[in-house]
Amino acid sequence: VNLPVLAPSILAADFSRLGEQIKSCTDEEIQWIHCDIMDGHFVPNISFGPGIVGTVRDIAPEAFLDVHLMIENPNNFIDDFADAGADLISVHYETCPHLHRTVENIKNNGCMAGVVINPATPVHLLEPILPEIDLTLIMSVNPGFGGQSFIRSSYQKIRKLYQLREESGLSFLIEVDGGVGTQNAGELVSNGVDVLVAGSKVFKTDDISKSIASLLKAARA
Ligand code: DX5
Ligand code: ZN
Repeated sequence: VNLPVLAPSILAADFSRLGEQIKSCTDEEIQWIHCDIMDGHFVPNISFGPGIVGTVRDIAPEAFLDVHLMIENPNNFIDDFADAGADLISVHYETCPHLHRTVENIKNNGCMAGVVINPATPVHLLEPILPEIDLTLIMSVNPGFGGQSFIRSSYQKIRKLYQLREESGLSFLIEVDGGVGTQNAGELVSNGVDVLVAGSKVFKTDDISKSIASLLKAARA
């Protein structure tokens, strides 16, 4: 992959024009599509399930589908999302009492594995699982809704994780999700972020292509 990556979150898309809006992304050198799965239990909102992920796979056969599970008992749904076409599945640390088993389950289903932490969960809890995973996702808002403001203490967590990666010689990707826009994309990348998720700043705009171009420019500055 060409870093940094911009991963548009379709949570903010207009679902009556999902095909068209995803094509606007893939036309703008976007390879990753971020799918936010919410169950109304782990987070106070419901989004969509494996059916829509399968639709995204059909719309964009070449895209890299980054599936973010904000659900309780994620272990029970890994095979459904893998069958739907996920390339990478991320589970929340807070939902997995047997995190190592769940990570193994993701890999045994042929997907890359990611682990996500909420704003109040410290980075050091990830240490034992880091050698097993392909990506770590730092939530920079409380998960559940798009359009929230970025929590500034996330910078410290990103730097800490980056430092852990340097010290360990591991190569997991560092992703950040929530409140990302042109005002912080550059600073996030310079602090060590490889993958920027953006929902409202891509889709809740007049011109998706233009928004992507300015986000990429800010991320690369
Ligand atoms: C939040 C989701 C995010 C969200 C980001 O629970 O995980 O991916 O869609 O939306 P913005 O970019 O609008 O903060
Ligand atoms: Zn997300």
